[in-house]
Parts: sequence; C-alpha cells; structure tokens
Amino acid sequence: MSYTLHQLKVFYTVSNCGSYTKAAQQLGLQQPTVSEQVSTLEKTFGLDLIERIHGGLRLTDAGKVLYQSVQQVLGVSDDLGRVVEQLRGQSAGTVRVCADTTVGTSAIPDVISKFQRLHSSIQIILEVVNRAKVIERLEEGKVDLAVMGRPPDLRGLEVEIFLPNELLMVASVRHRLAYQLKLPLSAISEERFLVRESGSGTRTALIELLEASGIKPKIAMVLSHNEAIKQAVIADLGIALMSRNVLEQELKLGLMTNLDLEGLPIIRRWHVVSPPGKLVSPATREFRQFLKNYQPNLK
Ligand code: PGA
Repeated sequence: MSYTLHQLKVFYTVSNCGSYTKAAQQLGLQQPTVSEQVSTLEKTFGLDLIERIHGGLRLTDAGKVLYQSVQQVLGVSDDLGRVVEQLRGQSAGTVRVCADTTVGTSAIPDVISKFQRLHSSIQIILEVVNRAKVIERLEEGKVDLAVMGRPPDLRGLEVEIFLPNELLMVASVRHRLAYQLKLPLSAISEERFLVRESGSGTRTALIELLEASGIKPKIAMVLSHNEAIKQAVIADLGIALMSRNVLEQELKLGLMTNLDLEGLPIIRRWHVVSPPGKLVSPATREFRQFLKNYQPNLK
C-alpha cells in the first residue's frame, strides 16, 4: 500500500474544512487536484472516506476512524520537522506548554521569565486551561509538555514531580468560623461553597474531600476563574478550596483567612508531564531540565 504524507494532509484539510473548494484555498491547490488526491487515497486504501450528503461533505465511518490516525501521523511529522530544523541550527525552537489554570497563572510565568533570561532564543508558547483540557491536549499530542496537578491515567506518560501545591479552605475575615482553631470538617457541612467549573482539578479535590466525610456540598456559585472566586470569598459569598500559590497577596493583606480545619491543608504536588511517543526537541529537553531543577526562591 503506497500513499504519501501529502495525500494524508489533503484528506485531513478537506475533513476539517468540509469542502473541497475551501481545502484547495487553504492548501494553495486547484480544487480538482484536491478531490483527485482524496480519491487516489480512497483507491489505495480500498475504502470510501468522504461522502457527499445534502450538498456538503461528510466523513464515512471508515473516514472517521482514519481521521484520528492521520491527525497523529501529521502531528509526528510536524514534530519531526521542528526537531530537524533545530538540529540544523535554523531555529532555536519553540516549546508548546500547556498548564492547568492554577499553576499556569501562578508559578509558570516566573518560571518562563527565568528560563528566557538564560535561553532568549527559545520561545515558550503557553496555553492555560483547566485540568480536563490539559488532559485533552496530552491525548491529542498537541503539546510538548504539560504542567498540572494529579497526572492522568494515560499510558506512556513521562511524569516528574514539580513544585508543592498546598490547598487551603479560605473564607472572608467576617466569616463566623474565621480565626477559630482546630475545627472538625463537619463545621463546614452547611456552608455555601464557591467552586470552579467542572473539569477543574481544584473542584475535584474539594468534592473528594467533602464526599470522603459524607458531606454533600451546597454550591453557592460556580466561577471559572480563581480571581473571581477570591473576590467572592472576600465579599463573604461563600467559602472555597484554593491553592496557596494564588492567595499569597490576599492572605498577607488580611483580605481573607485560611480556616483551621481537620484534614487541611491538602498537600499535593504539581507535575511536569510529557505526552507519550513524542519526538523530544532539544528546546523541549532544555525547558524540561530547567523545570526539574527550578527553585522558586532563586532570583
Ligand atoms: P485546575 O487544576 O486549575 O484546573 O483547578 C489544578 C489541579 O489539578 O491541581
């Protein structure tokens, strides 16, 4: 069976565009060339991959299965191109990093700043999303590295321990439990909680903590930003489980308080995770090594 990377790319682009004409424009080719490439691929595989339906294009069942594999092949080819380019010294390279919301908005900007002082020619492209989306990016192989809380249960991931992540239960300084000592967890069983969106690792940690003690949380509000949760805590709209890393200023300034509860703080770690089966570019290796040796307090 003989097919080319170019044919796979044409098939992939047509699938994404849902049109031969749009795919041709995107690829800088003539429309007949595009449909010819797809039909050659179909003949080579002995399968119909794309069908016309109500004037539009749709992937057949076989096409859908193949689409996933083609996405992976093109991803590997893209990585290969970048590695070769770097080895030939044409570019110092880029590293695509995906970080969960909490670490991505607290520790990572400082890490990147310190790294770039030493490696100004390596560009870090940072995407900050919640835990569920970080896992999606790892599965799709769209990142060189991820920094996240609990690593997912995916085969072949390479995981290294990164900085500590201390989760605190915070409340307004006007809250009835503020400054009380050694409270049992049951003291918050009737509290109203401010929680992150589903898909957030911090939200999962809160639900697990409460459910383990038989507490069914009463959710006052769902807020998809740590910053919004902090403001809501300060306004005494509810209490929240949050990472100390995003609370340094508020705790120092006495804008909120850390409740002294049994089982808290929860001490976790962040992790540096590399997706499976990916070619590791020199730039990625350099950044990964830097993360391994990173010490936050060093200037
Ligand atoms: P989150 O992840 O920012 O999506 O809540 C944090 C974590 O998983 O520890």
